[in-house]
Amino acid sequence: MSLPAEGEPFTLRQGLRRYPFSEEIPSRTSENEAHMQKKNEWWPGAIIYQIYPRSFYDSNGDGVGDLPGVTAKLDYVASLGVDAIWLSPFFLSPMRDFGYDVADHCAVDPVFGTLQDFDRLSARAHALGLKVMTDLVCGHTSDQHPWFRDSRAGRQQERADWYVWADAKPDGTPPCNWLSVFGGSAWSWEPRRRQYYLHHFLASQPSLNLRHPEVIEALLEIARFWLDRGVDGFRLDAIDFLLHDEALRDNPPRALPGGLPPAKPFGLQQHLYDMMQEEPHALIERLRSLADARPGTLLLGEVSSQDGAYRRIERYTGRSGLHLAYTLRPMRSGDAGEALGAALGEIAGVGKGEGVCWAFSNHDVERAASRWAAAGEAAAPNSAGVRLLMALLLSLRGALCVYQGEELGLGEAMLAAEHLRDPFGIAYFPEFRGRDGSRTPIPWDGDAVHGGFTEGEPWLPVPSAHRAAGVARQEADPRSPLRAWRRLVAWRNTHPALVRGDLTLLDLPAPLVGFTRSADDERLLLIFNPSGRAVRVDVASLPEITPLGDHGFAALVDGAAAVLPPYGALIASVDLGALETAPKRAAG
Ligand code: BGC
Ligand code: MG
Repeated sequence: MSLPAEGEPFTLRQGLRRYPFSEEIPSRTSENEAHMQKKNEWWPGAIIYQIYPRSFYDSNGDGVGDLPGVTAKLDYVASLGVDAIWLSPFFLSPMRDFGYDVADHCAVDPVFGTLQDFDRLSARAHALGLKVMTDLVCGHTSDQHPWFRDSRAGRQQERADWYVWADAKPDGTPPCNWLSVFGGSAWSWEPRRRQYYLHHFLASQPSLNLRHPEVIEALLEIARFWLDRGVDGFRLDAIDFLLHDEALRDNPPRALPGGLPPAKPFGLQQHLYDMMQEEPHALIERLRSLADARPGTLLLGEVSSQDGAYRRIERYTGRSGLHLAYTLRPMRSGDAGEALGAALGEIAGVGKGEGVCWAFSNHDVERAASRWAAAGEAAAPNSAGVRLLMALLLSLRGALCVYQGEELGLGEAMLAAEHLRDPFGIAYFPEFRGRDGSRTPIPWDGDAVHGGFTEGEPWLPVPSAHRAAGVARQEADPRSPLRAWRRLVAWRNTHPALVRGDLTLLDLPAPLVGFTRSADDERLLLIFNPSGRAVRVDVASLPEITPLGDHGFAALVDGAAAVLPPYGALIASVDLGALETAPKRAAG
């Protein structure tokens, strides 16, 4: 399957199986059914390993990672102690946004392999006890998608209203002032229709009209297609952008402190109307009914970093919404203590945080090892900073995503301008270098050319610091981040409070972040110092602390005070009854 050239005739995909509508009509679930559904929920406390297939492992020497490459490395993934994999898009695409511009949701792009390759991947993952999640990109398609080719051809077309079309203002300018995240107006002109279409990202990623029942049906069919192939859940892209104000009102400006405006003009608006609408999402409700009809199906959403992210997670998740969502919000900050303290505070203010999934790194942000642990391009063996981030991620409440290479302590690759491939980065270079720095290939064997990722020319270079942090070398080094990751996962598994317990935030001064986790008879106190300087903590108000020694962090407890070394942690079991009041503020 490949993309027809512009202007060539195309056919709309036919023959996807239709299900009786009743399958997903939200019925009043009986207690028994609810119990069955709960029993099949594999995600509370789950560790989800995110694979960016383009950069994981290239099996055929074309320089681009592929599905057989993923399959070849699944034993390694299973050895990380994770519960599931989430595969970023591998669907037919012109790759303007590297797969997030889908031209056929039910076909594998030839660069990644075939549907049979996917089936083999899925079978092997399941045999290893791993759940398989794929991306489900619902907000937009590629402009090469047959739906859009039909829609843009004229106002009388079958799919005329499947996208968001609007007339120009009388002076010919776009219908309103909305901006694309990736730069420029969010509207592009289509001469055949004499109309503008909406796109929140690239002009080649037209937004779908998710108020149109047929569009929702079509997306549900795609979800069924992958569920029939054995997929255990979906990561839903850019939830905040699924709906917009129908009246297309202008966004008001955002008051910013004086000085230079931000490098990205998107930051100059209050996004009241182009995104984050309050009304219920029909698509999400329908997807949830579909998931409920197939117990064990996870819906994990992605929420933007705009203010109120955790309140939105609370709103999008729950009984008829998504099961879980993560937000890019903490990942936009350069300070782990500040970012996570603020996140936990915000969660405590809006609910129990049951729908929160954690992620420190992914294909859209600078890698956490550089951002939060000063690791440069790659952590040295025994890097305290990277180990601390791992322990912290594994200690938070809820499910978590770990991004390929995070277990190796990989930092952000510093790529030269001529190597950039991400259109977002190219548009804003050099003020913002885009996302290529977190998308470089995984170094499997530092001694091989291109880190053993490919026999050909890799689509993005493998930095030499990453080669030194290659998997083969880390496997052999007991002090490596990889070996630390495995020990920490094993440590987490022996503490039910860490996997499923409640979390209570402690009021600690910067740079510390701390909380208690409790489940059944187990109560743990965890205080992390994600900074490069030692910090004293007053522990006088915490009687009965027994520091735990099975995680590899040492804190010096001396009577009323504990000293946390740079990137150190105090992890102890504690009598929570005595913890009514948060510990007193520490002297810095
Ligand atoms: C994806 C990005 C993508 C954007 C547009 C995000 O949620 O993670 O990689 O560029 O959506 O699809
Ligand atoms: Mg390949």
